[in-house]
Formats: sequence, structure tokens, C-alpha cells
Amino acid sequence: MESLNVNLGDRSYPIHFSEDFDQLKGQLDVFLKERQFSSITIITNPAIAKLTHNFSFFPKYHQKIIVVAEGEKSKNFETIQHLCEELLLNHVDRKSLLVAIGGVINDIVGFVASIYKRGVPYINIPTTLLSAVDSSIGGKNGISLCAAKNCIGTFHQPKAVFCCPKILQTLPPVQFSFGMAEVIKYALLNKELWTLLTSLPSPLTAQSPNLSEVIMCCCKIKADIVEEDETEQTEGSGRIFLNLGHTTAHALEIAAPTHYSHGEAVSIGLCAALLLSQNLKVTPSAPLAQLQQLLSLYKLPTKLKRPISLAKIHFIILKDKKYIGKNLRLVLLKSIGRPVCYVTPNLSSLDPSLIQLGFH
Ligand code: GLY
Repeated sequence: MESLNVNLGDRSYPIHFSEDFDQLKGQLDVFLKERQFSSITIITNPAIAKLTHNFSFFPKYHQKIIVVAEGEKSKNFETIQHLCEELLLNHVDRKSLLVAIGGVINDIVGFVASIYKRGVPYINIPTTLLSAVDSSIGGKNGISLCAAKNCIGTFHQPKAVFCCPKILQTLPPVQFSFGMAEVIKYALLNKELWTLLTSLPSPLTAQSPNLSEVIMCCCKIKADIVEEDETEQTEGSGRIFLNLGHTTAHALEIAAPTHYSHGEAVSIGLCAALLLSQNLKVTPSAPLAQLQQLLSLYKLPTKLKRPISLAKIHFIILKDKKYIGKNLRLVLLKSIGRPVCYVTPNLSSLDPSLIQLGFH
């Protein structure tokens, strides 16, 4: 059992890693006893609600469970309104705790927690690899509009994160693969993790003994970056680096939402970032072949499943949060562990790289 602290002054919080569910229960008990919440509202997805039946690891006092559909499709104003109304109906006050148990649900609960009664505390219990290494930490939350992913949201840090890698064994293997796209993103940002991932004798699975180490390593990389630049204010470095691969990924998710999960879109987005790094002369040679090999090992796509027009992707990218003052900020790579922020007013400079991925 280990813990990692995200140091953000009075918004600091621990990420607890537990080898098994009983340990997680113990850690939760300590956390809840230390604070006196007036009630607990668990917000989770139908699959977890069905599996768990009752959340016996939480005290029964004023406990309420709200179920929302998992997935990107729930990241909308309708879900936010529904949740806020449910909280109000259940007399959830400013000393109540919200508990997000799931994957994408972290994003939704974090947003609701930041706006309901101008802010209530929440904790995250990630149940997907993607949320364990990325969305459950750092306090970025939000929802999407039809034309732009994650463009409505706030920064609101959780009070704690409880991560039990064993939970990931209950997921379909494809969900594990999707999460590996974010793990590989961290590996491109960090040489040690890259070396670890590329030297494993066999691909990681939810059962791998190394999995906890890899998850903790990703959380540490993210925590360090978030501590430096919590709200992504640093010009040209800092938290923006966590967006490696995400400009193309988010555009793909908007252009063809039914064809790409977030993980698959990030996988293609990482290939785009390396192609762009090479074609825009940010680096003499990007490790593209190694990246493609690593992604393929986890059955992740390295090019488009079906062609998408460049015009469509330009139109979407113009609405990206990183398109500011008629300039697009792209995270590219000089070499493993050395990201850079590349600013361009010229979207057509992306085209040769995008065409190599199947855009037309
Ligand atoms: N997922 C990117 C970030 O949290 O900044």
C-alpha cells in the first residue's frame, strides 16, 4: 500500500494505491473518520452499480447512490442538470461528499462538485486504466459540446483519490488497451517510463505484476506537472505537455464519435504528434516506428479507420482550447522525454502529416 501526495497548498490531496479491495476500504474508513461529512453521495455507472449492489465500504449514514451512463456521451449539460437536481432533491449540502466511482464519470462529478452550491468536496475511485492514470487526478473536469471536446469545465481538485489496480481485472481487455494509450503518452514524456514499457518481456495486462508500478509512475509524472502548473497558465510548457496527441485525438472524437474511443483517438493522436514533430522539423528523427510498434502491441490504431476530410478536421481544430489568438498550440516532441510547444497560425502546415494518417 502506497500513497503519493499532489502538493497544491490548501488544495493538496493524497492518491492512495491499494493492492486489494480490503486495503482500499481501510484507507477510505480512515479518510471518512478524519472528516465529518454530512452525507455521502456515490455517483457511478450502471455496470458498477450492478456489480456492487450495495456500497458496504461506505458508512450507511445519509448514503445515496446516483447512476449515470458511462462514457463520453454523458459529458453534456443534460447529465449535469440531472445530477444537480438529484443532489438538491436529496438535500446534499456543502459539507456533503460526492464520490465518483468509474471512468469518464470523474470528469462529470468533478464538474458538478465545482458548481453545485459553489463547490462541494469530492473524491475519485477510478475503475478504468484511463481514469487511474489521467482523469482522476489533476482536478481538470468538464463536459463537451457537439463541436468541441471538453470545452466547458473548471479546475476543482478532489480531496483524495483511491486507486486499486486489481479493480481493472474486472474490465473487458479492450478497456485496458484504451487506457494504455494514455500510459504510452506518459512514456513519450518520460524516458524512464519509456524504457520500462519498451523493455517489458510481454505486454502489460490487468494481471501484470508491474501494473501498479506503471500506474504509480504515470500518476507521479502527472502530479509533478500539475504541481508546477495547476491551471495550465505557463506559456509554452507545463500542463499543456499533458495534451501530447490530444489535439488530433479530440478532433477525431468530434469528427467520428462512434468510431473512436478516447484511447483509440489518443493512439492516433500520438502518431500525429510524432509525424508533425518530424515534418515540422522539431526533431531530426522521431521514434515513430517504435511508437507504432508499442501501440500495436496493445491493439491500438496507428492510422484512421476511415478517411476524414482535412476541411472537417481544420474546422474542428479552430474550436480547440489551444487555438488562441489565431494561433494553434501543438505539443510536439524533440525526443523521448523532451516535449515542446509549437505555435502555428497555419493549419495547412499540419496537412502532410495528417494525410499520412489517412486524412484526405
Ligand atoms: N488530461 C490532461 C490534463 O489533465 O491536463
